Amino acid sequence: MFLYKKMELWSAWLTMYNRGEAPTVSASSSVSRPPLSFDGSVRQIKENMRWLPGGVSSNFRLGIAPTPLVFERGEGPFLFDIDGNRLIDYYLGMGPMILGHSPAGVRDAVKAQADKGILFAGQSAVETEAARRVCEMVPCAERVRFGSSGSEAVQGALRLARAATGRRIILKFEGHYHGWFDNILWSTAPALNAAGPEDAPVPVAGSVGQEAEAGGGIEVMAWNNLARLEARLAKGDVAGVIMEAAMCNAGAIHPGPGYLEGVREACTRTGTILIFDEVITGFRLSPGGAQKRFGVTPDLATFGKAIANGFPVAALAGRADLLDLFATGGVVHGGTYNAQCLSMAATVATLEALTPELFATLETRGTRLMNGIRDALAEAGIKASVAGFPQVFHVAFGLDQPARDYRDLTRINRLAYVAFTTALLKRGVRALERGAWFLSSEHDDAVIDETLAAVAAAARETKGEMSL
Ligand SMILES: Cc1ncc(COP(=O)(O)O)c(C=O)c1O
Repeated sequence: MFLYKKMELWSAWLTMYNRGEAPTVSASSSVSRPPLSFDGSVRQIKENMRWLPGGVSSNFRLGIAPTPLVFERGEGPFLFDIDGNRLIDYYLGMGPMILGHSPAGVRDAVKAQADKGILFAGQSAVETEAARRVCEMVPCAERVRFGSSGSEAVQGALRLARAATGRRIILKFEGHYHGWFDNILWSTAPALNAAGPEDAPVPVAGSVGQEAEAGGGIEVMAWNNLARLEARLAKGDVAGVIMEAAMCNAGAIHPGPGYLEGVREACTRTGTILIFDEVITGFRLSPGGAQKRFGVTPDLATFGKAIANGFPVAALAGRADLLDLFATGGVVHGGTYNAQCLSMAATVATLEALTPELFATLETRGTRLMNGIRDALAEAGIKASVAGFPQVFHVAFGLDQPARDYRDLTRINRLAYVAFTTALLKRGVRALERGAWFLSSEHDDAVIDETLAAVAAAARETKGEMSL
């Protein structure tokens, strides 16, 4: 009951925000330093609303507390907004900016490519080089097709799975997000009173206006439960299983011991295509993504985000016999901007920079940041779980154990966490309200120290909100 009350409060806040009625940061808040002001962003978002619904270009940029921000530029670990604030950025473009903002190597490669051409509606040397690198880095990648967004890449994967098996059903997991299209936006963040029992969840549409029939081929299960998945796959009628191999869109949840291996075996046994959605984990959890980190190779994998450090690139990679269905099996995949040259130049420059040394540094610094946040919250008396990976982790107020699946995440104290991220923002640190923290190679020890000082102060300020 209390949980629903909190969820209601949270959704009431979002509704207020969406109507432009949510409270903004008050200059009179008790902080030890003058809080930053975001008045310029508030004004600009209001003006934007004349042309852009909600003042923004994605629903996931709505509901940001105290306001969606408007930026002038980014450099390394920092963003600079139109109010003149310098913010240490842990949104990192919702994950892509693994080399930080505007890294020279990517900028230079894109500028050099711009002198040669932008879009050929044909192949280019830079596309070949990008494909070669993806196939060398990613275990499952015998072939790769490029596109512009993760949502699109997922569509290609679903189509290949159905084409290869002649089956219709795609199995997905509660809380896993695979893009915003009608046929897959199911049970990404369902209210528990609509989601059905834990052992037999019902698909819940993620959007008003979504075509109900598009979900006809979708079944939803709880993640991290191997026995249930094995039993379902044994019927032999599932085309594909799609999952984040580590659940990073909501939370940053590790697969349980043996889970991925078991899923791999069950898929192989039943002729089911295993798809890892590596849009977040790819080129972030390791140079070869989650599949390399966990040593489990899917049949297909989708990539986006960190593959090109902010350029709109996605990839669908996997077994040659599956990808070649695009060439010889009558399976259609298109896109005017697929392998656009500037994006390919950004891909090559980014992948070139993702060395083992860079990942070792991310591991060390990210671990220090996670431990520092954990300690500061404990010191302030805030019950929280800090879990995940040094390159992307999740802070969950109200949990004392790392979450195992979506239903665990519904117990988070989201309102108190929004108060915390708002308090952080006032101190110049921008972290996602949903709890995720992304790290870049540019967040050095000095930046982490500054962050941890802000975290300690914000935690002290927020402690009183824990009863929200
Ligand atoms: C795991 C996952 N898959 C797919 C997508 C969709 O990618 P895009 O937003 O590029 O369409 C996202 C986006 O956040 C994601 O996190």
